[in-house]
Amino acid sequence: MPLGREIEDPGVLSSGRVAVRIIRWSDADALRRLLTENRSWLQQWEATHPSGRSVVPGSVSMRPMVRTLRRQLRAGSGMPFVILYDGSVVGQLSVSEISGGALQSSQLGYWVSQHVAGRGITTTAVAIVIDHLFAALGLHRVEVCIRPENAASLRVVEKLGLRHEGRRASYIHIDGAWRDHEVFVALRGDASAGYAARFARD
Ligand SMILES: CC(C)(COP(=O)(O)OP(=O)(O)OC[C@H]1O[C@@H](n2cnc3c(N)ncnc32)[C@H](O)[C@@H]1OP(=O)(O)O)[C@@H](O)C(=O)NCCC(=O)NCCS
Repeated sequence: MPLGREIEDPGVLSSGRVAVRIIRWSDADALRRLLTENRSWLQQWEATHPSGRSVVPGSVSMRPMVRTLRRQLRAGSGMPFVILYDGSVVGQLSVSEISGGALQSSQLGYWVSQHVAGRGITTTAVAIVIDHLFAALGLHRVEVCIRPENAASLRVVEKLGLRHEGRRASYIHIDGAWRDHEVFVALRGDASAGYAARFARD
């Protein structure tokens, strides 16, 4: 069951040099450039369509994509964030599959450009967004699903102390095939002072 209401644009949410905000039309060119420059960095972790009809990210105009993503806010189904570092767009963090009713849950996906990897940017951004989903949307559960081969992404959830629930077999079609995923979750109340405070302290 969807959330059943429009999601408010939270403006800029930040912690130190890292911030997130909802994607805008004016981000289209920067994102297209980053997606093109980072093809080999991102490809093995990217969702694909089982029919083989996937569009290569960065190969087409991002503007229709931005419009589609922003519609998720009005539909109450997702929050398409860009990740900023010192004010520049360096990646994306997508909140999707937002469910209301008896679930109150959502899924997170993310990437950053290789040229800024290893500075804690994604981990900080994920912490900020999880805190927002609990505090502002009142969600109960946030899931992150990661391929067992993705050591860098596994470190993101490990550093934040998310719960490991187990493995979903052949869960998401990634880079041309159905792939197993490890499931990690944050439950509301797991980090009493919030995930951003928890990561900043470490
Ligand atoms: C996974 C990813 C988002 C992590 O982003 P990040 O901003 O680099 O996150 P962090 O700085 O917190 O680093 C996380 C881990 O990445 C690894 N890492 C650091 N620098 C790296 C580099 N230059 N190249 C590859 N991995 C690196 C380290 O294991 C690090 O953990 P550590 O802090 O204990 O050393 C990023 O590597 C990425 O965009 N990868 C490609 C897309 C992807 O995998 N998305 C997630 C799908 S589930």
